[in-house]
Amino acid sequence: MATRTVDAVVIGAGTGGYPCAIRLGQLKQKVIIVEKDEVGGVCLNWGCIPSKALISASHTYEKTQGASAMGLVVENVRVDVNKLQDWKGGIVKKLTGGVRSLLKTNNAELITGTARITGPNTVEVTTREGQKETIETRAIVVATGATTIEIPGFKFDGKQIIGAKEGVSLREIPKRLLVIGGGVIGLELGTVYQKFGSELTVVEATPTLLPGTDPDLTAVVERKLVKHGAKIFKNAKALGYERNKDGSLAVKVDLGEGKHDTIVCDTVLVAVGMRPNSAGFGLEELGVKIDRGFVPSDLSGRTNVPSIYSVGDVAGQPMLAHKATKEGEVVAEIIAGHKAAKDWVSIPGVIFTDPEIATAGLSEAQAKERGIDVRIGKFPFSALGRAMAVMETDGFIKVVADKKTHELLGVHIVGPEASNLISEGALALEMHAFLEDIGLTIHPHPTLGEGMMEAAQHGLGHAIHIMNK
Ligand code: NAI
Repeated sequence: MATRTVDAVVIGAGTGGYPCAIRLGQLKQKVIIVEKDEVGGVCLNWGCIPSKALISASHTYEKTQGASAMGLVVENVRVDVNKLQDWKGGIVKKLTGGVRSLLKTNNAELITGTARITGPNTVEVTTREGQKETIETRAIVVATGATTIEIPGFKFDGKQIIGAKEGVSLREIPKRLLVIGGGVIGLELGTVYQKFGSELTVVEATPTLLPGTDPDLTAVVERKLVKHGAKIFKNAKALGYERNKDGSLAVKVDLGEGKHDTIVCDTVLVAVGMRPNSAGFGLEELGVKIDRGFVPSDLSGRTNVPSIYSVGDVAGQPMLAHKATKEGEVVAEIIAGHKAAKDWVSIPGVIFTDPEIATAGLSEAQAKERGIDVRIGKFPFSALGRAMAVMETDGFIKVVADKKTHELLGVHIVGPEASNLISEGALALEMHAFLEDIGLTIHPHPTLGEGMMEAAQHGLGHAIHIMNK
């Protein structure tokens, strides 16, 4: 069995692991990154990127169908699902290929295989071809991500009972789609297939869709889903299903208060969350602390075993690619002996529904829970010329600030390009900006970004294009 000595072994080449390995390489650290599957992890292969490709295609499809209102005559718009999947696959391939070459050019050695931590400073790697190697290392970075949760009564069969992975790979548009879990994945993919023509039903266990998101924002998304024919059951649980003679599925749903319903559908997408991948590769044996499946780490990314670090989904909530990447970068700096810490003000979140939802910092409710006296500014997209010009006027921008000091505490957007607009809010929060900073900054006209300026001005009582309270 061969033995080598390196500075760091990164386990997992997802959006936490690969940026960590690249940065380690940039910092002249000898690094090996071990991945059992494809580089890029969930995000690049079947999460963020594939779903965003499908979301953009479904959005374009819907816009094209509605283009006559703009005076554009478009006839016979239809979806070629195979071509759509091939196009999506091409994007994924380009990105994963890019990651491979970035690892290589930064001297991070990629091993395709499985890693097992056998000591605080040793990792045993078994390559896909079955070769074993023991690596001595100064640091080990656990970046193993998370896996889709299955629920009783709905064992994945890869065809009709599916998770997100299959959900982004369908080569047929389901006529009737039932989504279990009205969270991020459920609503993003549910919206895609609804736009492509599926009859959509959502079964959500809690009283609200997208639990944890400001209900003011989710109401806008829910309204649009329902307007387009979606049936949404809240406080409801899917219990199990039977297969009908015609191949469709009859799903029994508990609606609470003793009521039940049966929903007939062709495909069930289960999207009830993800669980961290922390078991079975040596952490337990070494006494690394595991808390409800997560491998917690401190501000420098260290677990309770100082040579072992954790980043990304496996390290804790929120399970977001950009949080994983930043954690990976911080840990790389620490391993290289630099000063760094996970000390950001906010981790912005985006939900690619229609319209999009994007948030950074505290919500109104969270600020009030902390006993802060707040000042709210709100500006609707319906008052923006640019939003009218792109025919997307649903939603608003809401800013939450400290009533007395005017310091910005949170930005919450539901509307067109919310995903792109939120970065201004995130930067403002990191810089501890005040409403005046945003309100006095000249935002170019006509843009959706003006909504941010006007929302801040509204918070100060002097927005120009809407009435002030
Ligand atoms: P999620 O936690 O967002 O949503 C799961 C939903 O399922 C919740 O609303 C929950 O109340 C509900 N639920 C749980 N058990 C249920 C049951 N038995 N019956 C009905 N409803 C039930 O999880 P999701 O959507 O699976 O996403 C997984 C992770 O991936 C999340 O942590 C999310 O942050 C991340 N993600 C992020 C995206 C983004 O940033 N745009 C996109 C997709 C995923």
